[in-house]
Order: sequence, then structure tokens, then C-alpha cells
Amino acid sequence: MDKERELYRELELKGVSRREFLKYCAATAAVLGLSELEFTTRVVQALESASKKPPVIWISGQDCAGCSISFTGALNPPAASIILDKISLRYHEAIMAASGHLAESVYHETVKQGGYVLVVEGSVPSADDRFCMVGGRPFRKILEEAAVKAVAIIAVGACAAYGGIPAAGPTKGIGLNKALPDRQVINLPTCPVHPDHLVGTVLYFLATRKVPLLDDLNRPKAYFGRSIHDNCRRRGYFDEGLFLTDWNDPNQQDWCLFEKGCKGPDTYSDCPVRRWNDGINFCIDCGAGCQGCAEPDFYADLSPLFTAEGEKSKNIMARKKAGLIPKKKEA
Ligand code: SF4
Ligand code: F3S
Repeated sequence: MDKERELYRELELKGVSRREFLKYCAATAAVLGLSELEFTTRVVQALESASKKPPVIWISGQDCAGCSISFTGALNPPAASIILDKISLRYHEAIMAASGHLAESVYHETVKQGGYVLVVEGSVPSADDRFCMVGGRPFRKILEEAAVKAVAIIAVGACAAYGGIPAAGPTKGIGLNKALPDRQVINLPTCPVHPDHLVGTVLYFLATRKVPLLDDLNRPKAYFGRSIHDNCRRRGYFDEGLFLTDWNDPNQQDWCLFEKGCKGPDTYSDCPVRRWNDGINFCIDCGAGCQGCAEPDFYADLSPLFTAEGEKSKNIMARKKAGLIPKKKEA
């Protein structure tokens, strides 16, 4: 109990009230389908013992560091950043203070001990190991070695999950679905990873020591269970057959973006309800179609992401062929 009080005092010193912390845990528990009381108690228990901080190591392959930026930007609610702060992030090339041999020794020591959560950002080159070397060693080998004693493996972002953008280039990047075919990996695609998806998944694991319910692409169903199209505020226009064809026509500004290449009907993620940048907006509400970044086909097989006039992307053609596009209703 003293430790629990200590935890709340520490949170308050960092500007997070007990109430805010409980509210954040309650919201996370609800999304993940857990009992609010049980979940919060277990999270508190996991966090209050500094000596038992669950170690996390974060390794990076072929990436742009966008997922790291998204993760470090998890400032709102502040409870999320503080929870992550409480987790012992032992190794992260971009944000750890140590560098060179010191950083490498922390990594090796943690890997030797085992029992950590392994977070992977970026893809693995399948064309040649030399496309991605870290500390003079192939990233592929580092990944295989780090996976052995990990208690959970989380692929953050489209690249780590399924290859992402590097899959379209000469390195022929592959995701953990192919690089670690024998291990269970929790995939948190989107480009970049959504900080809520990462915090919620880590918290779920801390509280239950289990992997959340996953779909057939190993994504947590709680975050990737419904299509963008199902929750889109432009959906009414889609059903009416009103498709934006001219970006400059103010009459069309709210119409469905399907003819402009929106991949929402084939993409599963909670972006329309969770939104991005502290809930400010997301692709479709700022006028760009969904690019399908939560799906394994992203990026190569979903391009062109934004169709030019007259150009049609694969999903549009397939739906048109199947007669799945509503026709504009006559007045
Ligand atoms: Fe929304 Fe895209 Fe579906 Fe249109 S196609 S309703 S813009 S998700
Ligand atoms: Fe990706 Fe969501 Fe936009 S799935 S493309 S971030 S709508």
C-alpha cells in the first residue's frame, strides 16, 4: 500500500493526478476488454516495484525512426508517457544516453539475462544482410538473437510488421512475419505506430502476462478489429455514390475519397475514432484518403496512394469489377 501511495505521489510530482492515471487505465482496459478494477490494480502492482521494472529493449532495422518519434510523442494523456517512463527501456539506439561500446554492453547484458519485452522497429533486408548492419553485425542476426529470450515480441509500424516501405525497394525488406516465422509476434502496424496502440499493448502484457486477442494478421483485435470505412464520417456519401473528383470544388469537400484512392474499405484500424496527434485529426478528416498503412499490402501493392485524375488503384478496380461501388442516386 505504501508503495502504491509512493507511485501516486511520484505521478503527482510529474503533473498527473491519481484521477487522471485511473481514467487512463480505465479507458485502456475498456478498449482491451478487461475489468477496469483488475487491470488498474495489476498495472499499479507492475509499476510500483521499481526493482521489478520489466525491461524493454527496442531494436531498429531498416526504418526512418518515425515510430520512435511517434512513441516519444505520447505526451497526452501525460499518464501514458509516465507509464512508459516507469518501464525500464534498457536499450534504444535513438533515445538512450549511452552510445558505442557502453550501449552495446547494456544490450548484451539484457539479452543474456532474458525476460524482456522486445520491441522491433523497421524491416529486415532479405536481399543482402549488408543493407542493414548495426555495430558491425547484420541486423537480421541481432533480431534472431534478441528474440530467443524475449517474453513478448512487438513489431511496431508497418515496416517491422510486414516489410512496409523498404519492401518496395532494392533491399527487399521483410517484416517479422517472415523474419521470425516460428515466433509469436504482436503486430502494431500503421506508419508510424500509434502511441496508444503501443502503450495499451505493453500495459496489457504487464497486467496479464498474456498476449491480447489477435486477428489473423497478429494485430490486437481491440485496435484493428473494424475497418476505417465502417467508422468513416464520409461513409454516408459513399453509400449515396457521391465521390470527390475535384479537390478544388468546395461542393465536394466532404464527399467520399474512394475515387481519389482511399483504401479505407480494405484497411482495418481504429484511426477514425482514436485519431492521431493527441486525437486532433487523421488522414481522411484532413482530406487525404486512407493509404492502407495498417495492411500487409502497404506500400508497394497499394500504390499509387493518391490517384491522379484518370489513374485507378488496385482496390478501386477490384471493387468496380465486383459491382461494389454505389451509383449516385438520381434526385
Ligand atoms: Fe471514408 Fe474512404 Fe470509405 Fe470513402 S472510401 S467512406 S473516404 S473510408
Ligand atoms: Fe494509416 Fe489510418 Fe491513415 S490506417 S493511412 S493512418 S487512416
